[in-house]
Amino acid sequence: MKRDGVVGLGRAGRLLVLLLALAAALQAQSAEPETEPEREAGILPFTPAELQQIQAHGPWPPPRHRDASNRFVGQPAAVAFGRQLFFDASLSARGDLACASCHIPARAFQDGRAVALPAGERPRNTPSLFDAAGHRWLGWDGAHDSLWAASITPLLAAGEMAAKPAHLAQRLRARPALERAYTQAFGRPLPADPAQLPVDLGKALAAYQATLVSPRTPFDDFRDAMARGDRRGAARYPLAAQRGLRLFIGEGRCTVCHAGPGFTNGEFADIGVPFFVPGGVDSGRHGGLQRLLASPWNRLGSHNDAGPADPQAVATRHVVQQHRNFGEFRVPGLRQLVHTAPYMHNGSLRTLPDVVRHYSELNEERLHTDGERILRPLRLSPQQTDDLLAFLRSLSTVSPAPAP
Ligand code: HEC
Ligand code: HEC
Repeated sequence: MKRDGVVGLGRAGRLLVLLLALAAALQAQSAEPETEPEREAGILPFTPAELQQIQAHGPWPPPRHRDASNRFVGQPAAVAFGRQLFFDASLSARGDLACASCHIPARAFQDGRAVALPAGERPRNTPSLFDAAGHRWLGWDGAHDSLWAASITPLLAAGEMAAKPAHLAQRLRARPALERAYTQAFGRPLPADPAQLPVDLGKALAAYQATLVSPRTPFDDFRDAMARGDRRGAARYPLAAQRGLRLFIGEGRCTVCHAGPGFTNGEFADIGVPFFVPGGVDSGRHGGLQRLLASPWNRLGSHNDAGPADPQAVATRHVVQQHRNFGEFRVPGLRQLVHTAPYMHNGSLRTLPDVVRHYSELNEERLHTDGERILRPLRLSPQQTDDLLAFLRSLSTVSPAPAP
C-alpha cells in the first residue's frame, strides 16, 4: 500500500488498517503457535516422530564395540602390533603393497579410485575402514562375518597381497622388532603351525582397525543439541541441511536402509547400480554368502574366540542364499562421505551430486529384487537436491581424522 493512500484514509481509516494488520499478524501466529519462535531461532518445526528419527542417528561415537570372536581387541600390545602390520609392505609377496597402500589414512582409509588396483576377480571400490568394527558382515558382498577374517583375505588373496603363510613367518623372523611385537601381543613365540599365523595377524590387524572411529560431525552436534533442548546450539546447523535431513528421514525413505548412528542397517540391498564386470557379472551378496560359508575363518570355525555359543555365529549358521541376493550389496555407512568418492561397490558414481541424481532419476527397470519395492524415482527439485546434498555433506568433517 502506498504511503499516500494511507494518508488519504484519514485518522480512523489509518487505525482500521493498523487493526487489520494486527489481526492478520495474530492469525498467522495462532496458525502455527509453537513453531514461530523455532523459525526465528533457525530450527525447522520438526514433528515428534521426526525428532525421534533424528535421535536414532546417534549418539556418536557409539559405545565401544567388543567383538567376542577376537580376544585381542582393546589390548594395547595387539593394537600396536596390528598398526605396524597395517603399514608394512614387506608382508606382500612382491614387497610392494601394504594395507595402507589401498586404505590410505589421509583419505579416510580408502584410495579414491573407482576400483582397487590390483582389482582381482571382483573389481570393487575400496571401502573406508572408519567404523568397520561396527559392521556385522564385511566386504561389499558380506563374504566375511568378522573384521579379523576380512583382514586375513587381503593378506593371502592372489589378487591382493598374495602372501603365503610361510612367507609371513619368514618376514617376521627376519625383523626382530616385528617378531618381538608379535610375542608381546600374543604372549607366545611364533606358532609352529603355519596356518595359525595368518589368523593371529588378522586378529592383530582387526584390533588396530577397531580403533578407527570416524570423528563427530556437524550433524552430531545438531542431534545432541536438540536432545539437550539447546535451541541456540541446534540453530547453528544450516537450514538447508535441516531440510535435507527432513527429506532423508521422510519422503526420500533413505533411513529405511541408511539407519542408526552409522547410517546403515548393515544389511544388503539392490538400488539399481549396474553390476556388469569385464567378462560377467558381480553377483554381490549371492556369491558373498557362498564365500562366507566356505571360509575356514568364519565364526563357525575353530578360530572364533567366543566359541560356538557366539550369538553372531548363530547368525552365520542361519544365512540362506536366496535368488534375491543376486546383485545385492551391503548398505554403506554415510559418515565421512565427502572424503570417500567415488561411490558405490564399483565406484561408478563419481560425485555426491551423481549419487543424488541416481536416486532422483532411479531407473526402476534396473532393480532386480522381487521383494517389496522401497525405492522409486524421487524426482527432486533443484532446491531439494541442494538440501539433500547439504545434509549428506554435514555427515563429514572438514578433513578426515589423522590415523591413530
Ligand atoms: C589392493 C588394494 C587393497 C589392499 C592392499 C587391501 N585392501 Fe582391504 N579392501 C580393498 C577392497 C577393494 C575391498 C572391498 C572388497 C570386497 O568387497 O570384496 C576391501 C575391503 C576390506 C575390508 C572390509 C571393509 C568393510 O567395510 O566391509 C577390510 C576390513 C579390509 N579391506 C582390510 C584390509 C587389511 C587389513 C589389509 C591388509 C592386510 C587390506 N585390507 C589390504 C582393497 C584393498
Ligand atoms: C533399499 C535400501 C536403500 C535405500 C532406501 C537408500 N539406499 Fe543409499 N545405498 C544402498 C546400497 C545397497 C548402496 C550401495 C549400492 C552399490 O554399491 O551397488 C547405497 C549407496 C549409497 C551412497 C554411496 C555411499 C558410498 O560410500 O559409496 C549414498 C551417498 C547413498 N546411498 C545415499 C542414499 C540416500 C540419500 C538415499 C535416499 C534418497 C538412499 N541412499 C536410499 C541402499 C539404500
